[in-house]
Order: sequence, then C-alpha cells, then structure tokens
Amino acid sequence: MKLSKKLSAIAIACAMGVIPFVTNADTNINTNTNTNTNTNTKDQPWANTELSAAERTQLVLKQMTLDEKLLLVVGYFGTDAPWKNFARPVESRPQSAGFVYGIPRLGIPHIWQADAGLGVASQGGPNVRERTALPSGLNTAATWDPQVGFEGGAMIGSEARTSGFNVLLAGSVNLVREPRNGRNFEYAGEDPLLSGVIVGEQIKGVQSNNIVSTLKHFAYNDQETGRGELNVSIDEAAGRMSDLLALQFAFEIGNPGSVMCSYNRVYGVYACESEYLLNEILKKDWGFKGWVMSDWGATHSTIPAANNGLDQQSGLPFDHAAYFKEPLKEAVTNGWVTQARLDDMAGRVLYSLFHYGVMDNPVPQPSNNIDFKKHGLISQKDAEEGMVLLRNEKVNGTALLPLAKELKKIAIIGSHANVGVLSGGGSSQVYPIGGMAVKGLGPQAFPGPMVYYPSSPMNAIAARYPNALVSFDEGTNPQSAAKLAAESDLVIVFANQWTAESVDVPNLSLPDNQDALIASVAKANPKTVVVLQTGGAVLMPWLNDVGAVVEAWYPGTNGGEAIARVLSGEVNPSGHLPITFPAAENQLPRAIVDGSLKKPDGRFEVNYFEGAAVGYKWFELKNHQPLFPFGFGLSYTDFAYSDLKTNVKNGQLSVSFSVKNTGAVAGKDVAQVYIAPKNAKWEAPKRLGAFQKVDLKPGESTSVTVNVDPRLLAMYQSKNKTWKIAKGEYEVILAKSTAEPQTSVKVKLPTRTLDVNGK
Ligand code: BGC
Repeated sequence: MKLSKKLSAIAIACAMGVIPFVTNADTNINTNTNTNTNTNTKDQPWANTELSAAERTQLVLKQMTLDEKLLLVVGYFGTDAPWKNFARPVESRPQSAGFVYGIPRLGIPHIWQADAGLGVASQGGPNVRERTALPSGLNTAATWDPQVGFEGGAMIGSEARTSGFNVLLAGSVNLVREPRNGRNFEYAGEDPLLSGVIVGEQIKGVQSNNIVSTLKHFAYNDQETGRGELNVSIDEAAGRMSDLLALQFAFEIGNPGSVMCSYNRVYGVYACESEYLLNEILKKDWGFKGWVMSDWGATHSTIPAANNGLDQQSGLPFDHAAYFKEPLKEAVTNGWVTQARLDDMAGRVLYSLFHYGVMDNPVPQPSNNIDFKKHGLISQKDAEEGMVLLRNEKVNGTALLPLAKELKKIAIIGSHANVGVLSGGGSSQVYPIGGMAVKGLGPQAFPGPMVYYPSSPMNAIAARYPNALVSFDEGTNPQSAAKLAAESDLVIVFANQWTAESVDVPNLSLPDNQDALIASVAKANPKTVVVLQTGGAVLMPWLNDVGAVVEAWYPGTNGGEAIARVLSGEVNPSGHLPITFPAAENQLPRAIVDGSLKKPDGRFEVNYFEGAAVGYKWFELKNHQPLFPFGFGLSYTDFAYSDLKTNVKNGQLSVSFSVKNTGAVAGKDVAQVYIAPKNAKWEAPKRLGAFQKVDLKPGESTSVTVNVDPRLLAMYQSKNKTWKIAKGEYEVILAKSTAEPQTSVKVKLPTRTLDVNGK
C-alpha cells in the first residue's frame, strides 16, 4: 500500500512536471566520453569477439551499477518537444525519433534511433534530414520478391548507419485488417505469409549493416482511430493464425534485435504490459532474446510493464510519467521488480548490441556521405517491381499500355504530376534530397506535411516521347481537364489519396472530388489511363469508362521515373496486389472504422469477430466479389502453367510446376500456390501457401519448387499450443490471383502435430 502510494506520487509528480523528464545531463553518470568500443580485452573481457553475445552480456552486466542498468532501459525523444517542456538530449541526433544513453566507461555506445521502414525518416521542422525513400511498404509487398525486400532494407540500413543511427525503427508488419487504416502504406498487406516474408527480409537487410532493426507494432495495432484507447479482442487461435503469424514469420526470417510493443490494449491489457504478448508469446514461445521497447507514449506503468516483459520505455516525454526512471529504481530497491529482472532488461539490450555487431562496429559521426544516385536506383527498382497494372483495355484494337510510340498529344492531369510523386505521412516520413516538390500541403503539424518527392512523372514521360506535345492540367477543375483531354491523343490522370499515421481515412473513395475529375476526363477521351498513388485500396466508380489503371502506391524517391518506365513499356509491370480492393465498403467486416463515431479520449472495444478471416479470406468466406482480388496484376505478356505436382516427404508438402512466358515480351510472373482443404475446416475456403516470382524471356519456361510452411496447412490449438494438420485431402491450386485459378491437383496429407513454432 505504502509502495503503491509512493509510486503513484512519483508518477503524478512526473505527469505534473514537478519531476521533469530529466535527461541524464543531471544525473551523476558520465555519458560524455568517447563511445567507441574498447578493444582492451584484459580490462574489458566482454570486448572479446571470440565469446558469444550471451557470455559478453553477462561479463559486462557484472560490472554495471544499478544506475547504469537503469540508463539502458529508458529512451528519450531525439527532438525538442516544447509543448512538453522537453529538450532533446544534446547527444541525440537532431530531429530523430529516439536516444538511449550508453555507458562509455564500459564501452557501451549510446543508442541512436531513427524511424522507420521506408528510409531514414526525420521529425518535421526546418532542418530535416534528407534521405532516400523507398516506395511504400505495400508497394514492396506487391513485388512479391523477397530479394527486393532485402535490398531495400540493406540500402536504408546503410543510410541509417552513415547518418549515425545504430537502431532503425523499421520492420512494420501489422496486417491490413482494416483497409481504411491510415498506416497501411507502411505495412505489407493482408496475408501473413507474404507480409512476414517481405518484412522479414527487409529486417535482415537493415541488420546486415551491423545495426539493429525493430519488428513492430506488437500487436494488433491495425487501426489508428483511438489507437491508444482501444481494446482488441480476438479468439486466441485465430490471432495466432493471422496477425501473430505475420509477426512470427517476419520474426523468424528477420531475427530482429528489438521488438516494439504497440499503443493499444489486447484482452483488456496494454500491449506494453501484456504478459501474454511479451513474456508468453514473444519471449517464451518464440524464444526472442533481444529487447522489447515501447512505442512512443505506449508505456503505462512501472511494475506491471517491467514484470510482464517490457524492457525499455521509449520516447520520454510521451508517456504520462518516466516510469522506468525513479519509479523503477524504487521498485527494484523494494523488490517489486527483482534485480534479476532488471539484469534481464538491461541484458537484453546489451545482448542485441553485441549480437548484431553494434558494439564492435560503432556507427560513425553522422555524414551525408551517401551514394544517393545508386540508392535512388534501388528504390526505383522496388517501385517498378511493385506497380500493379489493374486494367489495360483495347481502344480501337490496341491496348492503351504500353503507350504508343506515335502519340502526338499527351495530356497529364492532376496530383502535381508535373513536379513530383506523393508519400505517406507521420513518423515514417522520409524527406527528399533537394526539398519537397510542393510546399505548404497537408497539416502544418504532425502527421503533416504532405510531402511530394521531386521526381516528375510528366518530365520522365516527356523525355520518352520527344515528338509529342505533353501538356499539364492541375485537375482541380473537371471541365478544364476534360477540355484538355478532348484535345489530346491520350490522357494520363494522376489520382491520389494521402494517408498518414494517427488518422484513418473516412472511407475508401478518392478524396477531393477526384472521382468526378476522372469521370469527366474519361467521358471526353476514352483513351484515359489512370495512375493511382494511394495508401491502400480505393473504390473506382469510373473503372469501366477508363482504358487503363496502374496502382503506383507511393512510389518513393525515383517514383516519377518508375511510373514513366512502366507506362512506356521499358519495364513490364509485375506487381500483384498484396491486399484485396473491395467493390464496396459494405463488403468489409465493419461498416465504419470502430471508434470513429466516439471521441478517441474514451476507451472502446474492437472485436475481431472475423478472426483469422482477414482480407481475401473474409471475401471468399462471405462470397463477396471484390473490385480486384488479392494477388491480381496484369502484364504486357502472358504466362502459362503446367506440370503441377506435389510431393509429401516426412509430412512436408512441396509443390512443383513450370511457368512459361507465352507472350512477345520479357516479363516477370508471380506464381501463387493456394491450399484449400476438402474436409478440414479452416477460417476461409483457402490460404496462400507459397509463391515465387520468376523472370522469363519470351518463349522461355522454368521449373519451380516451393515448400509450404506446415502452419499454413494447420489449425492452431490454443490449449496445447500446437499446430494440427488434419488428415485428409487438400486441393493445391496454382493461380494468378485468389480469383484466377489456373490448374490444381489434390494431395492427401497425414495427420501431423507441430509445436508452437511449426516444428
Ligand atoms: C510510431 C512508431 C514510431 C515512433 C517513433 C510512433 O508514433 O507508432 O512507429 O517508431 O512513433 O517515432
């Protein structure tokens, strides 16, 4: 009783600003000396690289005082927050997300944290850090190419390192369960396998730079509306087969050094103090050895958070109190949090610093010594591989795309396509080299501004059609746009939907009257191509009136060039949808986003009654016809499948087949293997079991063999934490999308029980 009174007094004092969120300039610990790793293994035996990360951790922990251990479990915002009366630690990197004090006397470096998964982000303000931006996470998922995920991760990780960051807050793998979620652009789609593989590879790429990546947001932070107030409930097994499975795949592939717990509550408990999520699933079931950091403002207590698995409170001053400073010290002193647990908390941070090479390869002083041209091309490749050709009709006998060489008058309309391409807003915002293409758009404060990268689709198109007159109309007036359209051989309308962290979109319609714009342009000229730059799925009431549609997501640093190369046919589009595009919002599990009618200061419930039937699984279960199905994507060539066979060895299912390019141009196909049980009951009629992207010249064929992870054939059993494959017949379907099966075979599987990790 006495203790809790004392603790709450401290918490209240912090919240009231009586005990300020002090940085360690005013503690008695010297944090100002050289942070380079000491290689003197006699005085500092943990510097011995021959020892394991775990051994090195134990050696250094023994030397640490209580105050030093406590230093490692508290992070600060790396940006001034005047409204909180907070000045960033002087040692932090300007306009960064986070900073944790190291312990120079022991050779433990400071931890410098930057957002996020699309590049080295910067908090808004006058002196932003300008870096290379990848396309949106959905674009990278739409490549269906794990190698593209890895290369993008490796590139942004190297920029993080050169910028002086040893932790990149990347690895975002919340499932697209709610298509109106404002943050879907940061994530990797609705399917656990595709999301997990792409983000896992990205994490691996980031960490190939001897820095740590996170995996986030753990777990069920699937909407922004009321993200700090809502409580998610879901059937436990369904969660293991959906959101948690995506995280589990990414975790296994990427092996992240840190995991960020999320804002929301799950089963009534905040994610950052959830014994179930942190201790049970992450640390016990999955065997995570690194540290759990809270999202910025997601820590709500001292003793429950520490004892239930949170290792580091992030981003002071965003929480109500500095729970892991004095209150944690007091709790350890009084035994409410054991000394062993504090050692475990600090030890987990140290373990990752050793294991991922942060300790032995200190990050350099920040510089701009980056090959931006080369990195721009890595981003561009990602954009080109992820753009999805959704429609390509013949008008007067020829398909609109690729654009005909003999075009004389091309109209470009809308979305500032004369100067740039759009990006998504919030903490993941990467600022472009050379400044924003358009200034003053979007909210002045977070999650704004609305940033256009200076890569002009119009210039890139004009460069490829030197004999054509290329004209631009801003698209703000449908009549004037229609007039230009009527005078042109072909029209390219750029439509956009800006989405951002902290706000969900009100609905799936294009904002700002753009549907009317497209309709009036298409009426004036049937040779209309629509290029979408959206944060996710949108409705297309004009679809049947336009000739072609390309989903370009947010295409990143070189987006204009990438769009022009796809439209001109220099690049054959090969992106496939990582999400379902609904035909109407009433097809979704929820008519509106939960909590959107309530003020987000009130707590509310979000019941995932759809369970594991997320995205296409829901659509198939309910027999809804989407506008475009998951996995869909056209090409300028055609592919044919043959020789589909299955093999079951020791219970493991593998699938082999041949893919042939039957068209006239080279192209890449995404072969998708879906599994449908004949007798077993799953959450939905079928699941994606495996996929493979192949690159083929005209007439060329290749044979492919893929393995199906046994968890994708099983139902999770909560009571004994196992995955159970039911004996019986399964259909193995080779398809171009969930709605386009090409060929299928049946296979009999024996009953099989696997542990929580599918082993
Ligand atoms: C976001 C995190 C981000 C953190 C630090 C939070 O608002 O949810 O994804 O890493 O801020 O900027």
